[in-house]
Amino acid sequence: MTATPSVAWWRMRRQALLETLGERDCAYVYDAATVESQARSLLAMRSVARVFYAIKANPHPALLKAAATAGLGFECVSRAEIERVLQAIPGIARERLLYTPNFAPRNEYRWALESGLCVTVDNLEVLRSWTGLFRDREVLLRLDTGHGHGHHEKVRTAGLQSKFGMPPEEFDDLPQAVVDAGATVIGLHAHAGSGHFEIAGWIDAARTLAAVAPRFPAARVLNLGGGLGVPDRPGQPPFDLVAFDEALAGFRAQHPGYELWLEPGRYVVAAAGVLLARVTQTKGKGAKRYVGVATGMNSLIRPALYGAWHEIVNLTRLDEPADRSYTVVGPICESGDELGSDRPLPRCEEGDVLLIANAGAYGHVMASNYNLRSPAVELMVPA
Ligand code: LLP
Repeated sequence: MTATPSVAWWRMRRQALLETLGERDCAYVYDAATVESQARSLLAMRSVARVFYAIKANPHPALLKAAATAGLGFECVSRAEIERVLQAIPGIARERLLYTPNFAPRNEYRWALESGLCVTVDNLEVLRSWTGLFRDREVLLRLDTGHGHGHHEKVRTAGLQSKFGMPPEEFDDLPQAVVDAGATVIGLHAHAGSGHFEIAGWIDAARTLAAVAPRFPAARVLNLGGGLGVPDRPGQPPFDLVAFDEALAGFRAQHPGYELWLEPGRYVVAAAGVLLARVTQTKGKGAKRYVGVATGMNSLIRPALYGAWHEIVNLTRLDEPADRSYTVVGPICESGDELGSDRPLPRCEEGDVLLIANAGAYGHVMASNYNLRSPAVELMVPA
């Protein structure tokens, strides 16, 4: 069930990557086969009834197709994300789509409900005040189970400091509000954060959902969200899907009336993408040695925003000893424009291609045109 191979695909596809980049100075390059194998490893979990890919991580049409081919559904947070899936996979069954908005405008909820999408509601006030909107509709409720998890405080999406979900002090009021709204709750949802490895976190959330669920007679689904961690550093153990499946199976044995859903994003696509960027110049300053590349935080903001660590290698000189230390920076006018600091690399020269690994999730989709520098384009490595 563990999909993460011991040698990263990009090490074996060096030539294909350089050919795909061609004369360009930077590009994201994706490997659809990695998406398919990550998806299959999730679908092999016996305790999970349905898995929806959280497309916010990477909505590239070719990757959506790979995820669909493997059998995943799709979790979307905006109308445009839903429309992207419908465009990439024409004729996809509505049951394979989930719509999980947060602070979206009322007319977007109306559109989603009228389109027959499965909508997750995460605000009691909305249920109460948008009279008529939820009448005769089936919905999921997103609960804040109280404990956030994740690789950085900005990606923890439960607990008092986060804007998501309905807090425990509202749980008692929910059943009446649902009845008054004329809605039917078919399941409960919780997503505690992104990029964590603590299996107990999901089990605790599942227990909280299972304790509340009997108040909704039609509830049969517990959606435990996404957040499955992806190892950043070489040698770091992968997320233990087998142990996760076993823990969830144990939970299901105690709560057989519910099916479990998951909606991972990062786990599906992170390893499938690399960012390639050509060296523009090097510079020494005090004890530091900088290597500049053609794109930076305008393409990949995760290091600047979360201090995220991405492996960086010199693809042009993959076989040379990494006997220097460089801080890898982009061309953006901010001191935070670093892709990695003090990294072991071989001597880098103008025109070399650096590869930033694990860039398939929350990479291009969070890119910007800051400094009016276009972010890296997206390409597929040939199969
Ligand atoms: N479900 C919900 C309701 C979510 O809010 C998210 C992510 C997911 C599923 C998927 O989480 P994943 O499996 O990808 O961790 N930009 C940050 C991550 C933000 C995640 C936001 N919500 C990053 O680059 O680390």
